[in-house]
Parts: sequence; structure tokens; C-alpha cells
Amino acid sequence: MPKDQGVQATHVGESVVDMKFAAIADLDSAESDDQLESWRVRFLGRKGRLTSLLRGLGSLDIDERKVIGAEANKLRGELESLYEERTSKLKSTRAPVGSIDITLPGRKPALGGLHPSTQMIREITQAFNEMGFQTIEGPEVELEKYNFDMLNIPANHPARDQWDTIWVDSDTHNDVLLRTHTSPMQARTMEQNDPPIRVIVPGKCYRYESTDATHEWHFNQVEGLAVDDGITFADLKGTLYEFARRIFGPQRKVRFRCDFFPFVEPGVDMSIDWNGSWIEILGAGMVHPKVLENAGYDSTKYTGFAFGMGPERISMLRNEITDIRHFFSNDLRFLTQF
Ligand code: DAH
Repeated sequence: MPKDQGVQATHVGESVVDMKFAAIADLDSAESDDQLESWRVRFLGRKGRLTSLLRGLGSLDIDERKVIGAEANKLRGELESLYEERTSKLKSTRAPVGSIDITLPGRKPALGGLHPSTQMIREITQAFNEMGFQTIEGPEVELEKYNFDMLNIPANHPARDQWDTIWVDSDTHNDVLLRTHTSPMQARTMEQNDPPIRVIVPGKCYRYESTDATHEWHFNQVEGLAVDDGITFADLKGTLYEFARRIFGPQRKVRFRCDFFPFVEPGVDMSIDWNGSWIEILGAGMVHPKVLENAGYDSTKYTGFAFGMGPERISMLRNEITDIRHFFSNDLRFLTQF
């Protein structure tokens, strides 16, 4: 009888070949000591499949017994060495006992943090919140009317040159722009609310200009506005002094100088003492009567003050940052320092 035929057509239960395939597939899927042992018992154990097959050989005729017996014995040798191989492979991929120190502290997951601009904005707005100002926000895409006209900056006014503007292309509107400052929220707030008003308005602004260490084409501003019956320049000074003390420390010297902004009269800029020199940190002034009237307020009854500052600028001073472009370059080497 040809050998192959004998192997396939045995009467002794399953064929040697079938058993070989089943044994190898099972062994490959054994991943633990328990699974390996159960495999050994199932195939090589005293009541295992291979042992049963060998025991059954006695019922075969002599020729069959010779062929199948030889195959089965060969298979036993193969399975035994495959079993050894698998056992040592599993052992070598396992961490040796004692190699993991479970008493070590865990690895800290990397946590994000607030952007330095956000941190500064929160600090500034909190200082004003504690003085009774309410934080509000306004649109970054603004109408010409609020960004310029209502703030006493008419179309032909030379002050418009100060704000090189990013205009929005539109088929239906030619008066939409990315706001050049947060001051339009003065007009929007007054238009929608009666006095008294005390608001602080943080937000992004955009200007069409080339960038360098102190200029960005987008940046944040924090605007402030207080309007009521009887507000004076002394209130403006007192409020901004208090702000400077909170942000830069109690001993900080502050200087006011005349400055011009179309929406305030008188207008000032405020500087703080920085190691013996004056550094300008904000523009401010008493709200121009025309701005009050544009919003529908009686300028003989109400007065107010307004101010606007750049939080990046203030953060640069406080943190000795030499280039404003770092704030928006998304470089983690910079951002993770805050
Ligand atoms: N909007 C001005 C700017 O962008 C800053 C400013 C100046 C705001 C004086 C004010 C103000 O409210 O009173 O340069």
C-alpha cells in the first residue's frame, strides 16, 4: 500500500496529518502556561489524541501498522520539540519576575496649559472685575460703522490711516472688516444699554501691516469703558493706577501724558516705570461727547472714560519676551514656559 494512502485512510480514528495540523494550530494560539499545559495533555498526555492513535495501531493490519506507526512516532517527536520551542518563546517574551518595580511612581501624562496671552487677559480682566467691571466680548468681523464712524473717525479723517485695515470681500457689502481695535464695543455696548456702564472687553484685533519684533498683524486688546452720571478724569486715573498696581506691584510708578485718539477728549497714554524708563502700556481718555451722542446718550448728563491696552505687550514686559511673534508661532519651546 502506498505510504500516503495509508496515512490518509487509516481506520484508527483521525489521520496523522489531520492531527498534525490541529496540533500546530492549537499550539500557536497558546499564550499562557495554562494553555500550554492543556495543549500538552490534549495531544501528548496519557489519554491524549496522539497516544490514543498509537494505542489503536494494534487493530490495523501489519502493513498499515508499520506505515502509520512510523508517521505517528515521527509526529510525536515533532510535537514534543514544537512544544519545547513554544514554551521557551513565551518565557523569553515575558518580563522576568522582579524586573518591574511596581513601587516606582507612574509616568505623568503631558498636560496642556493656558496660552500666555490667555493667562494675561484673564489676569487683566480679573483685576477689573474686582473693581466692578463686567467682562463682555464682541465680533471680530465688524462693520465700518462701529469700527470707525461711531467712534468719531469719519471716512475722510486722517486718523483712519492709523489703522491699516483688512477689509472683507463681499458681493453685498463693502463696509465689513476685521476689527482693527476693540473700541467698536464701546459703541455697541452704549447702543444697547443705558448707563451706568462698566465693561471690560478682551478680544482679537487685526491690522494690515508688516510684522516685526513689536508688531503682529493680529493681536489681542483689552478695552475698558465706564459711563455714568458724574464720572471724572480722577476716576480714570484712580482706576488705572489700581490696575497698574495689581499687575506690576504696589510700588509701581505711573505716568499720564496727553495723547490723541478721536474717540476721547482729553486723550492720554499711560506709561509705567520700568527700571528707570517709561514704557507706554495703554491709551485712554474721557469718552468724546460725540461718541456718547452717536450712541444716543445725553452728553450733558453723562460722562465716561475709556481705555485700551495690548495684553501681549504687557506680558512681554512682565516676562521679558523680546519678540511679539512668539505668541502666535505655536512653538512649544516658548509656550511651555508659561
Ligand atoms: N483703540 C486704540 C488703539 O487701538 C486704543 C485706545 C486708546 C482705546 C484710547 C481707548 C482709548 O479706549 O480711550 O490704539
